[in-house]
Amino acid sequence: MATYLAKPDNSFIRQTKSDVVRFGVIGYGYWGPNVVRNLGQLDGSKVVAVSDKSAAALKRAAKAYPNVTVSADSADIIASPEVDAIAVVTPVWTHYELAKEALENGKHVFVEKPFTSNTAQAEELINLAAQKNLKIMVDHTFLFTGAVKKIGQLLDDGTLGKIYYYDSTRVNLGLFQHDINVIWDLAPHDLSIIDHLIKEAPEAISATGQTHLNGHEDIAFITIYFPNKIIAHINVNWLSPVKIRTTLIGGEKKMLVWNDLEADEKIRVYDKGVDVTSQQGLYTLLVNYRSGDMWSPQVNRIEALTQELAYFVDCILHDKTPINDGPAGLRVVKMLEAATESLRNRGSLVYL
Ligand SMILES: NC(=O)c1ccc[n+]([C@@H]2O[C@H](COP(=O)([O-])OP(=O)(O)OC[C@H]3O[C@@H](n4cnc5c(N)ncnc54)[C@H](O)[C@@H]3O)[C@@H](O)[C@H]2O)c1
Repeated sequence: MATYLAKPDNSFIRQTKSDVVRFGVIGYGYWGPNVVRNLGQLDGSKVVAVSDKSAAALKRAAKAYPNVTVSADSADIIASPEVDAIAVVTPVWTHYELAKEALENGKHVFVEKPFTSNTAQAEELINLAAQKNLKIMVDHTFLFTGAVKKIGQLLDDGTLGKIYYYDSTRVNLGLFQHDINVIWDLAPHDLSIIDHLIKEAPEAISATGQTHLNGHEDIAFITIYFPNKIIAHINVNWLSPVKIRTTLIGGEKKMLVWNDLEADEKIRVYDKGVDVTSQQGLYTLLVNYRSGDMWSPQVNRIEALTQELAYFVDCILHDKTPINDGPAGLRVVKMLEAATESLRNRGSLVYL
């Protein structure tokens, strides 16, 4: 059961009775089992209930976790006094309703990416959580990978210098989604990384794409313009013969290649670049091409979801605001909406 601690301003901090946050997980399809496994292994959390509409999914959950209550009706779990926080691991069009019901019942919410289907829904959930002093964390898993943490460090300590561009290729064959296009499926990963690494608000977005098979775009190219000449490009595709997860980040001082499919050298930093030596009129630009060493920094290999959920539990128990809170989820949804609008108009610029 939860208790409430008075704060000096007469508002209240919701406290769990023990130092263990009790979770109900809604959705036990592809990603849900990873959330349940991680929450079950952490010291600060336990899973007390799992809900899924599918009987087959519930059967799998009951077999894997005989001590966990399973239910086909998510309302049972959301209303349960034995539950402090709800993890929403269902398709995006269900996130808003489930998260809203959870907040209204006084539960903290961990919700999958993308946060909601539109900005109005995201704003409503953020306000509701604020009114009730509850936490929202949006599952921007990549922020907790060793690779993104290392890239953040290389940007923060000035190793890469001023950032010029972020260019990501995230393609594979399938998995076709029935309710969303490839942008809403794959681009939230890059958009959350960009939001985290490029500490500027985007100015405008252009997106093009095409539908070939099921009425949803299965290939798309997104370009995002930031202040200070920073540009980001994301190529997402469900119709690629090979899986590629490669991102180039160009900086004024160094450039890096992040190949997430590499086991050992995920990040390679190149001491390559171009130095402008003089500029005597438009046609006599003199440049030196710098081609120095390449090195591969160590990258932490602990599962990102483990770190992320441990951090969420810490945020709940110690009243901290997560970096991937509701407003972070909203910023990603705004970019997704702008990309969708541009896509409908064959790539015309949409200003944010
Ligand atoms: N963070 C990541 O890296 C990552 C990876 C994969 C998926 N996801 C996200 O996780 C979410 C789920 O994706 P998935 O691939 O597991 O989908 P999935 O279709 O495999 O599983 C979703 C499950 O939710 C259940 N469900 C749907 N509505 C429900 C409801 N109202 N009550 C109870 N159960 C309900 C379905 O029966 C299904 O078993 C999506 O938002 C997706 O974007 C995130």
